[in-house]
Amino acid sequence: MVNNKKIHKGKITKVEKQANDLFLISFCADTINKIEPGQFVSILCGSHTLRRPFSVYDFDEETKTISVYFKLKGDGTKYISSLKVGDTIDFIGAMGNCFSISGEKSLVIGAGVGFAPVFYLANKLKNVYKVAAFASEKDIPYDITADYFATDDGTKGKKGSVLNYLDEIIQEVNPKIIYACGPMIVLKAIAEAGIKYNIKTEIAMEKIMACSVGVCRGCVIKVKDENGNIQNKTVCKDGPVFDGSEVVW
Ligand SMILES: Cc1cc2nc3c(=O)[nH]c(=O)nc-3n(C[C@H](O)[C@H](O)[C@H](O)COP(=O)(O)OP(=O)(O)OC[C@H]3O[C@@H](n4cnc5c(N)ncnc54)[C@H](O)[C@@H]3O)c2cc1C
Ligand code: FES
Repeated sequence: MVNNKKIHKGKITKVEKQANDLFLISFCADTINKIEPGQFVSILCGSHTLRRPFSVYDFDEETKTISVYFKLKGDGTKYISSLKVGDTIDFIGAMGNCFSISGEKSLVIGAGVGFAPVFYLANKLKNVYKVAAFASEKDIPYDITADYFATDDGTKGKKGSVLNYLDEIIQEVNPKIIYACGPMIVLKAIAEAGIKYNIKTEIAMEKIMACSVGVCRGCVIKVKDENGNIQNKTVCKDGPVFDGSEVVW
């Protein structure tokens, strides 16, 4: 795994609105050689001191192009959405640990913009089923495909929370490993389902980050070690990917 805290300058090659408030941005950075699924980049947003972290959705090793999906939220993401093709983007990364690459039957579950890191991973897995959960069809980027969709309003796929269908999907796919990213409530339920069905889970956690490099301790979560001892771990440096069965919710 490459954990690169250097500042890089990329050139924007694409800024595309793909769904309601959801943008895909691509930028070329010839100083980057490798980015593993699960890792993130921390983007400087104009005059804001605090960088904003975003999971990598794709890295093309030939063209050195990084792609990130971002949901419009506040000033930082508004700034990124205003960038144009040819503009320079300033970022640190790729940072954090990454998902394991399993040869066994895998299920990836992405809720909301959490689909980004797990769908990047899915492109590297051979035996994989993909689940995408959104509030509504209008929130689903037109570029993505999945084996199962769930939308809260039923406009695409199964109606209601993906958690209502978790048992059904797990029993249908019968995976050896589940990878997930999304809101905490979804990750907790997936980690618990993993324990119930004796399936390994790897989950990418999100915490509000200040430094993004393991210094400020603002993104600490509690994790159990193999002896059951509780330890503090940082999402930015020790994560963002954790074994779901070890996280103390
Ligand atoms: C490891 C990681 C990966 C992420 N990947 C993605 C992704 O692929 N796509 C995406 O749309 N979003 C992702 N996020 C969330 C994204 O970082 C926030 O939505 C973004 O920072 C909001 O910035 P803002 O200035 O527009 O919003 P504001 O709400 O104005 O942000 C104010 C401050 O809070 C921080 N903040 C707000 N929400 C979050 C959050 N959920 N997580 C971390 N910091 C937050 C901001 O960084 C900023 O410092 C990820 C977060 C983490 C920790
Ligand atoms: S954001 Fe500072 S330690 Fe993680």
